[in-house]
Amino acid sequence: MSTIKNISFSYCEYENPEELTTEDQELIIAAKEAAKLAYAPYSKFMVGAAIRLKSGRIVHGSNVENAAFPSGICAERTAVASAVSNYPNDKPVAMAIAAMSDEGVTAESVSPCGNCRQVIAEEEARAGKQIRIILSGRNKIQVLESISPLLPLQFSRNSLRVDRP
Ligand code: THU
Repeated sequence: MSTIKNISFSYCEYENPEELTTEDQELIIAAKEAAKLAYAPYSKFMVGAAIRLKSGRIVHGSNVENAAFPSGICAERTAVASAVSNYPNDKPVAMAIAAMSDEGVTAESVSPCGNCRQVIAEEEARAGKQIRIILSGRNKIQVLESISPLLPLQFSRNSLRVDRP
């Protein structure tokens, strides 16, 4: 017998950044600043990610492209790599993402790609806590309390446990 399962999730959407906490506003500004530092000569799509660590420290990253396209890396993973390698014991609590095209900060928010979702999910597992995800566009800000809804039925460390008879 088959069963239809349904997955749904809720998130908060804001039109006015001032409705967010000062800390989250600050994180969005850091993500926008990081986007300006992107190396994106091929796509010209500049993305910035800023991670707030438990101590309050903010670590940022931007996309770094390469002539060999798959060698490029997204802003979110650059930020995670920087946070984990520099502050391994200072766990992330929130991440803001912003992007810029030729016309400046994108009107719509940008959501992390599949690879980045997987990496942020691992970060949540490592931290043992949810990471608030703040997707920031000019006209809209979307806030999720965790990366998990963006990666349903996710592959995780538990998936590696092989049941042996
Ligand atoms: N990019 C990111 O940095 N983060 C995302 O979540 C999506 C895409 C980058 C990769 C590439 O350098 C450019 O944006 C265009 O895809």
